[in-house]
Amino acid sequence: MSLLAFLTALDTLAAEASQSLSAVSDVEKLEELRVRFIGAKNGQLKSIQKMMGSLQADERPSAGKRFNEVRDAVQSAIDAAAERLGSESQPSRVNGPMVDPTLPGLRPRLGHLHPITQTIEHLKEIMGRLGFTTTEGPEIEDTWHNFVALNIPEDHPARDPLDNFYLTTAGKTAIDPAAPGGMLLRSQTSTVQIRVMEQSKPPLRIISLGRVYRPDAADATHFPMFHQMEGLWVDRHVTMAQLKSVLRMFATSYLGSDVHIRFRPSFFPFTEPSVEVDYFWNDNWVEFGGAGMVDPNVLSAVGYDPEEYSGFAFGLGVERLCMRRFAITDIRDLFRSDVRFLRQF
Ligand code: FA5
Repeated sequence: MSLLAFLTALDTLAAEASQSLSAVSDVEKLEELRVRFIGAKNGQLKSIQKMMGSLQADERPSAGKRFNEVRDAVQSAIDAAAERLGSESQPSRVNGPMVDPTLPGLRPRLGHLHPITQTIEHLKEIMGRLGFTTTEGPEIEDTWHNFVALNIPEDHPARDPLDNFYLTTAGKTAIDPAAPGGMLLRSQTSTVQIRVMEQSKPPLRIISLGRVYRPDAADATHFPMFHQMEGLWVDRHVTMAQLKSVLRMFATSYLGSDVHIRFRPSFFPFTEPSVEVDYFWNDNWVEFGGAGMVDPNVLSAVGYDPEEYSGFAFGLGVERLCMRRFAITDIRDLFRSDVRFLRQF
């Protein structure tokens, strides 16, 4: 074989390798090219190297020098293609932002229960220890449970449309939603007293916690939606002394042993006598709710014999209790859903 033919074969291979290696677009194809050009057994360079044996002795040094140059160039082109394809298939490791595993991690912030929910759970737990079981009633009520059965007659000011959220129900026009058969968002949890007594016989001792709605203007102590805890104890010989004891035990458990309790005469159509309940705490008398002995008319409305049974009932504002305990001064903060505020409790 002539030196010229040898060098021509080398140059042809170098050009071909350079062109195909710069265009290769996946690693499998690159491996095929590597085997074809510099494969140890049947690679094209190997075949050309074997031809060197048939050259003249004085031609071999220059042939060997050119051979090494082409071999190195092909090897470099293979390396460059491998790096290019590798960086494309693993962009985050080579091009993307480096991850430093020694940096301190970002701890996810855990949520927690809203202060009103915490208060509700706490009240249930205290009243549970006093033997009261928890019941629930609907927030959309009929006028029977919200008014009539609670001894609130049709002409009573508590039924005024300006003091209640009446609903227009399908098929009925709201000409007089306050009339029997109308529906409304319940204005008090006393509705649950009726529902429970309609469904069970005395003795019973229940509480019910839930939302109530009144078109009150929002200020620091009022909100149009708030929560109440209703309590009801009906049995033979239940007295006002027991009412006072239960509310005192509840108050000392919730607010502390230095709390005093005061009853002020009041009026509710469904209790007789009726009282407002105040707690003395942090040098202040604060009203928390209403209470009284269940009116005999209410017992009769649900089919209980008022000669045989008596009972007491109370309804406390949950927000007022929550605010006292957590030293919250504006009820509106509870419902702004600002996590910077809620996170504190
Ligand atoms: C009642 O709702 C009676 N049902 C309570 C009752 C139950 C009396 C059983 C007798 C027997 P009153 O309207 O006063 O009562 O409301 C009770 C408590 O709810 C109030 O003392 C106050 O703590 C809270 N409250 C009333 N209106 C609002 C309001 N707009 N925002 C926040 N809390 C309120």
